[in-house]
Amino acid sequence: MTRDRTGVRAARQMVQAGQLLGVDFVALPARESAPPAISESSGAAQAPAACSKQALLDALRKRHDAQCPHCTAATAHSRTVFGEGNPDARLVFVGEAPGAEEDKTGRPFVGRAGQLLDKMITAMGLNREDVYIANVLKARPPNNATPTPAEVMNCAPYLAEQLRIIAPEAIVALGAPAAKFLLDTTEGISSLRGTWHACRLENLEIPVMPTFHPAYLLRNYTPDARGKVWSDLQMVMKRLNGEA
Ligand code: URA
Repeated sequence: MTRDRTGVRAARQMVQAGQLLGVDFVALPARESAPPAISESSGAAQAPAACSKQALLDALRKRHDAQCPHCTAATAHSRTVFGEGNPDARLVFVGEAPGAEEDKTGRPFVGRAGQLLDKMITAMGLNREDVYIANVLKARPPNNATPTPAEVMNCAPYLAEQLRIIAPEAIVALGAPAAKFLLDTTEGISSLRGTWHACRLENLEIPVMPTFHPAYLLRNYTPDARGKVWSDLQMVMKRLNGEA
């Protein structure tokens, strides 16, 4: 694709972004060339080949399904939802727990909140296949209840291991349970969002941008809430584009 066509595509994505998220601000990317595909490694030290990360994730999934103290004891779900996406993703989205649609399909974020997340990903100029999507809990809680500290303590170490394998350049924490676990904090999402934080996993430190959960956004579809999420996502895009 030529640089011109790439520029047009980027501009169209930004216009769509404004339309999709209901935000007036439509900024064109300042750089001349297209950003690297999100799946391309930007570091000098190349990550292991995709298949080896995928193999590690596959092995982790098997271990999780056999051993997770939360998911093996839980009874309200019909299947676990491990997470899915590009094992070499530069960006990972972390949500709370599977809902009804996710429980039916075994895939994260495929219900109404997932459709909004898809729009957010598109608005960022990315595809779902570029990123990785996972949750704090891998089994649907009864009545979609907020995860309890005990549930998080039992299940979320598998998320931490997923993140160590993928080692993305950034994580978007969707909602309070994800932000609280990743940042080991009790602070609320309203005060956490809008600034970068760090998720520390042994010798790995991954930048985290907390933002409102798409389900919250669906319930509070106000210009203010949408504007805040869009502003958070723009900070993520800038970071991935090496502009911040
Ligand atoms: N909400 C979440 O937090 N995760 C999903 O997978 C779906 C809805």
